[in-house]
Amino acid sequence: MTDQNATATDGGSVAASAGAGATRTATAPDAVTVSGVSRVFGSRGREASVTALDDVSLDVAPGEFVSLIGPSGCGKSTLLRLIADLDQPSSGQISVFGKPARRARIDQDYGIAFQQAGLLPWRTVAANIELPLELHRVGAAERRTRVGDLLSLVGLDDFGSKYPDQLSGGMQQRVAIARALAESPRLLLMDEPFGALDEMTRERMQNELLRICAETDAAVVFVTHSIPEAVFLSHRVVVMSPRPGRIVDVIPVGLGSTADRGEALREDAGFFDAVGAVREALHGHPVSAGPATSATSTGSAGEAREGANLCEPSGRPAGRESR
Ligand SMILES: Nc1ncnc2c1ncn2[C@@H]1O[C@H](COP(=O)(O)OP(=O)(O)OP(=O)(O)O)[C@@H](O)[C@H]1O
Ligand SMILES: [Mg+2]
Repeated sequence: MTDQNATATDGGSVAASAGAGATRTATAPDAVTVSGVSRVFGSRGREASVTALDDVSLDVAPGEFVSLIGPSGCGKSTLLRLIADLDQPSSGQISVFGKPARRARIDQDYGIAFQQAGLLPWRTVAANIELPLELHRVGAAERRTRVGDLLSLVGLDDFGSKYPDQLSGGMQQRVAIARALAESPRLLLMDEPFGALDEMTRERMQNELLRICAETDAAVVFVTHSIPEAVFLSHRVVVMSPRPGRIVDVIPVGLGSTADRGEALREDAGFFDAVGAVREALHGHPVSAGPATSATSTGSAGEAREGANLCEPSGRPAGRESR
């Protein structure tokens, strides 16, 4: 183990605890604490049961940006759904800001954005964004002000009265993010929110998300298949093995605070080093020492090699990839 942020557990998986870049104080509870969580989906008819997650432990500090990456079916969405209390673990515990996940859901401590924007087509952009506020009986005047602020935040000032089908995919996704931010959550749970976007829009959205995170100081748990996206956005990248999903490595990305990250970072040597480190972790090779290295993978490295079907950076210098 070279990384103090990752510790091996008895079961051989890697437990990821909150690391550098996050704004932890002595008294503030972690944004997310996942302790020894497993999720087994029961058998149906002749189908065998499926262990989607096996003994996963993960801490996310307030203000920290953590990405989950791993092959299809390794349990990333399942983990996010458990944190959001949309599903319950078979064993283990989850807390959000020190509360049970269910309490955090009731208290609207987090916002959610998934791959599909999921906007209501019959409501205007503004009405979509204000929906969570309406549901929580926030007064009309306050809602109007808040929606105006959010439209500015995501760069859609002039689009409040449009309908979703009058917007591009990227714009719709920004509306979904604005809606997720409506109640100023201290935590954002995002499942491949930019997966359906073209590369240019996707990079613009990444820049925008970083800006929003810097402004709101929200913690983020972000699922992606893209290694460069994970590195560009995150303080730490959590690498998962194929089913049963386990954390096999945690890569701290030493590229500065969310506020300091910008377009130039995409051409930075440290960025390519971190991309290489994440790729090596996914493929099960050892990661050499350096600012972007992490704990040695202990568990399912061979499985990771087998199942790693992740996006590679395109059209960019190879960095460590050429080795
Ligand atoms: N409700 C469910 N019932 C039964 N099995 C499920 C259910 N939800 C997920 N699974 C199974 O759990 C495993 C993990 O699924 P999950 O959707 O979390 O993967 P993922 O890592 O998000 O994959 P992808 O990258 O393709 O989105 C898969 O084998 C899936 O079939
Ligand atoms: Mg998924």
